Amino acid sequence: MFYVIKLASETLTERYNPSLFSYFYEIFPDGFIVVEYNGRIIGFIIGVLTSPHSGRILMIGVSPKHRGKGMGSRLIEELLQEFINRNISYVDLEVSTDNEKAISFYHKHGFRIIDHIKQFYQDGRDAYVMRRLLSL
Ligand SMILES: CC(C)(COP(=O)(O)OP(=O)(O)OC[C@H]1O[C@@H](n2cnc3c(N)ncnc32)[C@H](O)[C@@H]1OP(=O)(O)O)[C@@H](O)C(=O)NCCC(=O)NCCS
Repeated sequence: MFYVIKLASETLTERYNPSLFSYFYEIFPDGFIVVEYNGRIIGFIIGVLTSPHSGRILMIGVSPKHRGKGMGSRLIEELLQEFINRNISYVDLEVSTDNEKAISFYHKHGFRIIDHIKQFYQDGRDAYVMRRLLSL
């Protein structure tokens, strides 16, 4: 868990209370996925169930050295499969409106912008809510 918390602090702008990570793992262990390389964690994604029909992606991060090699795609597709296995109909996430790389990454994985929340983050940045429909 320590290495995921460390990677989150290195890859994400937002700061999270370390105890949240154990909490997310406990409530939905299958939504807590990491990539290990040479004994080190270089990527992670955390998703939770928000209702019997919906899921939410809370965080995703890949170590800067390993980006652009498909690691993030593998993580998000594996998490989406976990949601599909549970008959989840849609998955939401929030992303900072200035995080163009992440927005393009989510677009590539079928997410579309459905809302714009002003001052969503503590530092005043806005967020887009993006949604991926999973039902056939
Ligand atoms: C977003 C993130 C997880 C993507 O991980 P990754 O391993 O680099 O992703 P992939 O290699 O699977 O890339 C898939 C797609 O993402 C987009 N993408 C990834 N890196 C990009 C970059 N540097 N510039 C623009 N688009 C990029 C592209 O659409 C890419 O498709 P392509 O390979 O056909 O060009 C990673 O960039 C990251 O950790 N960013 C910092 C943390 C963050 O912003 N998290 C999201 C917060 S909501």
